[in-house]
Amino acid sequence: MGIEGPMYTCPMCGEPLTIVYNKGYLKGRALEGFRGRGVWRYSPMLPFEGDVKPVSLNEGDTPLHRSLRLGGKLGLEELLLKNEGLNPTASFKDRGMTVAVTDAVRRKASRVICASTGNTAASVAAYAARAGLKSYVLVPSGIVARGKLAQAVAYGARIVKVRGSFDEALEIVMETVSRDGDIYLMNSVNPYRIEGQKTLAFEVWEQMGGRTPDWLVLPVGNAGNITAVWKGFKELTEVGLTQRTPHILGVQAEGASPLARAFEMGFDELVPVENPETYATAIRIGKPISWRRALAAARESGGSIISVSDDSILEAQKTLARMEGVFVEPASAASIAGLEKAMEDGLIGDEDSVVAVLTGHGLKDPDSAIRMGVEEVEAEPGPEALAMALGV
Ligand code: F0G
Repeated sequence: MGIEGPMYTCPMCGEPLTIVYNKGYLKGRALEGFRGRGVWRYSPMLPFEGDVKPVSLNEGDTPLHRSLRLGGKLGLEELLLKNEGLNPTASFKDRGMTVAVTDAVRRKASRVICASTGNTAASVAAYAARAGLKSYVLVPSGIVARGKLAQAVAYGARIVKVRGSFDEALEIVMETVSRDGDIYLMNSVNPYRIEGQKTLAFEVWEQMGGRTPDWLVLPVGNAGNITAVWKGFKELTEVGLTQRTPHILGVQAEGASPLARAFEMGFDELVPVENPETYATAIRIGKPISWRRALAAARESGGSIISVSDDSILEAQKTLARMEGVFVEPASAASIAGLEKAMEDGLIGDEDSVVAVLTGHGLKDPDSAIRMGVEEVEAEPGPEALAMALGV
């Protein structure tokens, strides 16, 4: 049986579609209140009516740690760390995937597909397995971190390593889906992905006791998450739950920073980066599909999109692990490197409250940590040898 009518992009302009609610309707639903946990706690703000059976692995409900040392080092009064690495497949992608796979099942899809730098692949594979669907994941050959690949293998995805970039892999996937209407698309051009991911904003607002931060900082690759988070905060104001939205700061890696450049130059066009390069492989993307919505999020929120060097990303990854006990993958550390740069540039001030979104767990990319520099020695199993090795 064919899939029942999913649409991803506008047939006129080709832009990704956005789910827009009637304001009165959404407000009425929000007034019903939020019950339960995680992403599905916010069901009244999600595009399902009546009896839905969520395909869930208990995603969302991730900790918002108060920084104990790093904020002080940066001179910040309030730094909060949103640890999205504690989702079921260890990245924020699960928020979108639970909603999109639930939609896929509702539409009677049996196969799902995505292009990915790794985390989307892992998450798609897991939620497809949970729903009993077949998954196909296309990843750029040679750059995907080992932990992510291991996940996709374990969950039984069919993995295709494309000899090309993420951007090329996404183009092939989009073409495949437009030719074969029976394969359901799981990339963030799918509006249900954005709906799930917007719950990050709702959760931050609730965890801060009904406040919103002055700034929310997050890494940007294909630009789905910045789109989603901004949509979430805007909806909170539309339904009257808050008056203030945060400034959104998107952070790209220098070698893959078409959005930072467009923002800086005030462009309304995207000049793609043909051969994106960065050590933060999750965000090695030269042609973000949601570029227009990302620029809008930064501009409307009074925020910005900036870029940071790979060296500063690696330094931030290490500092975060050692000062806060939170181990993230390199792309996630871009949030911290970007925050530091924005403070140096005077964009973010000492008195601002900041939420840094840490998008993926460090174990996703164990090689990046090993390269931090090894502080280990071998010793014979005796007390003297041990004392020598420890230097005590
Ligand atoms: N952080 C991590 C750890 C990611 O995996 C990604 C994207 C991002 C940030 C950026 O989010 O694309 O919504 O702007 N990873 C995608 C993937 C591209 O295939 O896993 P975005």
